[in-house]
Amino acid sequence: MNQLTKEDSEDPLSTVAHTRATSATPEFIVPWEPPFDIQLDASQIRIMKCEVAHLSQIVALEHQLFSATSAYDAAFLEEEITAGRYLVALDRNNAIAGYAGLEPENTNIYISNIAVRRSFSGIGLGREFLRNIVAASVKMNAPRITLHVSEHNFRAIKFYSEFGFTVDSFVRDFYCENDSAYYMIYPL
Ligand SMILES: CC(C)(COP(=O)(O)OP(=O)(O)OC[C@H]1O[C@@H](n2cnc3c(N)ncnc32)[C@H](O)[C@@H]1OP(=O)(O)O)[C@@H](O)C(=O)NCCC(=O)NCCS
Repeated sequence: MNQLTKEDSEDPLSTVAHTRATSATPEFIVPWEPPFDIQLDASQIRIMKCEVAHLSQIVALEHQLFSATSAYDAAFLEEEITAGRYLVALDRNNAIAGYAGLEPENTNIYISNIAVRRSFSGIGLGREFLRNIVAASVKMNAPRITLHVSEHNFRAIKFYSEFGFTVDSFVRDFYCENDSAYYMIYPL
């Protein structure tokens, strides 16, 4: 069931620091598309809802791509994947090329995670994840998509800005001391 209501969607924009969803969070079902294949550059990629079978590869990639203070741990990732909140991209050999995760944030859809394996970076996979996130968020009648990005992550800031996200606020020491975040929004 869609937990976003018209009444909630008129709430003012939240700029509070994001807190992780827990098992106490009300049911939040993401209406991902059924699995489909796309050709990006020379790579054929399958995009599908993530399954627990993908967990160990995702945990390994998460630690390659994020710092110790910002990487999610295996228990949290398992909870999110089990709840159907993650999308995954697989290469021809079923190796993980990337993944993305969503959470509810009041009536907004919050991008909790987006990551592309380095060998697949720069061919449009991140943008493909964003397109899928927009489609799912529109189906959920969300007023906007939000996220936090590290002030030091210039590539990701450029990536989100070029897609159409704008900076709403600056959250000092969001990840840890001396690692602040921009809170960015994409209106729907
Ligand atoms: C940020 C990230 C998700 C982008 O994904 P991606 O698949 O490489 O990006 P895309 O190929 O879809 O590129 C989309 C746009 O992003 C920007 N971009 C992508 N790679 C870039 C690079 N190496 N340097 C600068 N900008 C880059 C460009 O604007 C690009 O548009 P263009 O192709 O028209 O130039 C990916 O680099 C990543 O996973 N980084 C590590 C994890 C991370 O930082 N996640 C974000 C956490 S908030």
